[in-house]
Amino acid sequence: MTDTNSPAARLAQRPYAQTLTGHKALVTGASSGIGRATALGLARAGADVVINYIGPAAGAEEVAQEITALGRRALTIAADVAQEDAVEQMFATALREFGTLHAVVSNAGLQRDSGFTEMTLEQWNTVMAVNLTGQFLTTRAAVREFKRRGPQEDITIALGKIVCMSSVHQVIPWGGHVNYAASKGGINMMMRSIAQEVAPLHIRVNAVAPGAIRTPINHDAWATPEAYQALLKLIPNGRIGEPDDIARAVAWLLSDDSDYVTGATLYVDGGMTLYPGFATGG
Ligand code: BGC
Repeated sequence: MTDTNSPAARLAQRPYAQTLTGHKALVTGASSGIGRATALGLARAGADVVINYIGPAAGAEEVAQEITALGRRALTIAADVAQEDAVEQMFATALREFGTLHAVVSNAGLQRDSGFTEMTLEQWNTVMAVNLTGQFLTTRAAVREFKRRGPQEDITIALGKIVCMSSVHQVIPWGGHVNYAASKGGINMMMRSIAQEVAPLHIRVNAVAPGAIRTPINHDAWATPEAYQALLKLIPNGRIGEPDDIARAVAWLLSDDSDYVTGATLYVDGGMTLYPGFATGG
């Protein structure tokens, strides 16, 4: 984002409304990309934030420093979301340090791309384990905590709020990425089924489905001018998304402003799911 007067740059400068004051939030996969921007966005909206990460700690520590500089509390926790005991320990640490959680973003995800006949079982299993099982484990731990804690109406109208990070590929088939698209399709039905089950407890579960966002996961799709021009053919809005575009949508879904919204997927994709090819064809 080099043009400081671009729509994305102007949006990034806008302050967040203080809709998450008093909230304790947890974001998985928060050391880079969409997770990083979301952790920062929630802090800008007033929340204290647990930053989950895996691998080197440097990225997570940077996010923590930025959050602390905003005057909010930050806590970094290394955990592989695909491992049940690691997720349980992460929640135990978060609850010990923060007391409770009101908002959880199940974001951690990855790609292991391959043509279908070359795809290995390991590539399939890795993507399913992190993207789908990871969200199951994280969401389950979150719902358990909301039920244990009970209402805190001075902080949140709902008992608790969860956002699952999906993708436009929960509806757009994606050859060469069968494992990834299947995991995101799974997130859609998992999220809606959980939302249905816990709605009577006033726990809200929603998803954000990003399109092409400028992050490391899809670096090759935007890093060269040729790739970027090809990508724009898929985006009616005419620009790649920035991580902060997603963070703002997540902040709204976690706030009381969306109290009557549950089981919904909010597409934040610049129109990618509008079948742009049909604007001039069909
Ligand atoms: C993928 C990106 C891709 C985007 C749009 C995302 O879910 O992770 O690699 O650019 O969908 O196709």
